[in-house]
Amino acid sequence: MKRVLLFALTAVVLLMFSSCKSNKKQPVMNVIPLPNHYYYHKQGNFVLNANSRILVGDNPQTLKTGRYLAAFLKQYGFTLPVKNVNKVDGVENDIVLRILDNKKDIQPEGYRLKVNSGNISIVSVDGAGLFYGVQTLIQLLPDSMLTSKPEEINIPGWRITDSPRFHYRGMHLDVGRHFFPVKFIKQYLDMMAMYKFNTFHWHLTEDQGWRIEIKKYPKLTEIGAWRDSTLVGKYSNRPQKWDGKRYGGFYTQEQIREVVKYAADRHITIIPEIEMPGHSLAALAAYPELACTPGPFRPATLWGVFPDIYCPREKTFEFLENVLTEVMELFPGKYIHIGGDEAPKERWKESKLCQQLIKKNGLKNEEELQSYFVARIEKFLNAHGRQLIGWDEILEGGLSPGATVMSWRGIEGGIAAARAGHDAIMTPGNYCYFDHYQAGPQGEPIAIGGMTTLKEVYNYEPVPEDLNKKEAKHILGAQGNVWTEYMPTPEKVEYMVLPRMAALAEVDWTDPDKKSWKSFQRRINNHFKRYKAFGWNYCPGTYNIAFSVQKDADSTTFQVKMETEIYQAAIRYTTDGSDPVLQSPQYEKPLHLAKGTTLKAAIFKNGKLEGYINTKVVGEDLK
Ligand code: ACM
Repeated sequence: MKRVLLFALTAVVLLMFSSCKSNKKQPVMNVIPLPNHYYYHKQGNFVLNANSRILVGDNPQTLKTGRYLAAFLKQYGFTLPVKNVNKVDGVENDIVLRILDNKKDIQPEGYRLKVNSGNISIVSVDGAGLFYGVQTLIQLLPDSMLTSKPEEINIPGWRITDSPRFHYRGMHLDVGRHFFPVKFIKQYLDMMAMYKFNTFHWHLTEDQGWRIEIKKYPKLTEIGAWRDSTLVGKYSNRPQKWDGKRYGGFYTQEQIREVVKYAADRHITIIPEIEMPGHSLAALAAYPELACTPGPFRPATLWGVFPDIYCPREKTFEFLENVLTEVMELFPGKYIHIGGDEAPKERWKESKLCQQLIKKNGLKNEEELQSYFVARIEKFLNAHGRQLIGWDEILEGGLSPGATVMSWRGIEGGIAAARAGHDAIMTPGNYCYFDHYQAGPQGEPIAIGGMTTLKEVYNYEPVPEDLNKKEAKHILGAQGNVWTEYMPTPEKVEYMVLPRMAALAEVDWTDPDKKSWKSFQRRINNHFKRYKAFGWNYCPGTYNIAFSVQKDADSTTFQVKMETEIYQAAIRYTTDGSDPVLQSPQYEKPLHLAKGTTLKAAIFKNGKLEGYINTKVVGEDLK
């Protein structure tokens, strides 16, 4: 028996040795979000060259996705014909895309990708899954091909079976505070598609600008889309300064249709947001009769929250229903977002009409009046086959029957919604607000505040621990929010969302037990090369060093740990008050230092100090 065991062990060792010696060593997996199941098969190796073709099935979605892949490859010098697989003689050196609805082992939105020697096959049960398979294939292509034009490229033998953890994977963009042209909205959708997001939450109306053409109410864009001036620098600066320039813009209905189609071609549904009752100053500037006080109003030239909001009179509901009717004609998705956040109640408290409404409907207070408002709108949306989403304030005066809650002020809104049997989307500020600083504030361009690092986003778990299994099913997924007060240009938006949206993509897609920050750090470093090749701005990471200090047991010293988010970076440090240089000791393991020691540390990459020097006086904040 022992001999058999010894023999088996020897065989295993020999096998391991032979595979180590093979020149086909396991390639690195660079795909983000990380596929849920994959392995490498060393017999497979596909050579993409001038003779390759894309073969598609009869399902028209396969032709569409085939053309999408062909258009991507064409930019890099590979012009592949797209042909129907049933109309060619055999498969040889081809990429085959198929949707087969009888594949029980493939999940909705999932795909199976096999790289063989003579072909690549991607199979799914729906159009979205096939598209995600193609996104994975694009990421399996070497990044070097994006900057050089190789004659042929090798794709190693990956076998991938993949599907998402959550079916709601969202990114939001506020086009009210700053307006972005259609060209950039399309690029944003491309960035989302790369990371397999399927929902774009388009925040179209704000105090500072109304951005969607509504035919019945032309003043919304004639007046509401333009503000007189924009704040320069931080809100907290004193004195505050303005640029004195008229600013604005809006999307015509034709442009909106074009964007909706562009998104649908990438399996992205758009949720339009029409804010009510608050954040509506631009609409009130156009139609002051919708407010509780006579006005006049102007679109806001400051950031923040404003007291004038829609007044819940019949004329207002008629206006909103007419607006929503045009919105529903433009956006075919099931959800319509009605905002609901940050609506100060002072005008409603002072309004005779509001007080009468409260009395007449047996409501307790202005919060319940907001619920009455939302419930009316929900009824209207439901009657047109749509579902209402609102920010978590819509919970405050009682939730309307079928509403979905977007939990932004922490996770409590999501918990309350799920417990009440409502669906929730998690967008808590500490993890999902990409308007926060991510690498500073020292050395970073200005942001609204807060600090949400890449690692914090990566480690976010959308399902709150407190929920039981049944309640947890109501958590549809997570979304990144991008409020643009301090993002006047597309380049700034790129910097704020890249790479955090990649981390969130993995939160939404990859099972928690498959996730690994270390692996992500390596992969995101590879994606930086892609961003460069595509001309996308991004944040390279935080040069902050995270210090964790703990008193040593039975001793007067303190244990100090240091950590950096920068990939393959060395931390060098001093303890004598001098600035660290390349010759300073490199941090390898926890230090033990006396209270009051001045620890100075910095990140070194490729022999150079990157960022700035971090200083910590040991034990200053500990007893
Ligand atoms: C929000 O950030 N006001 C939803």
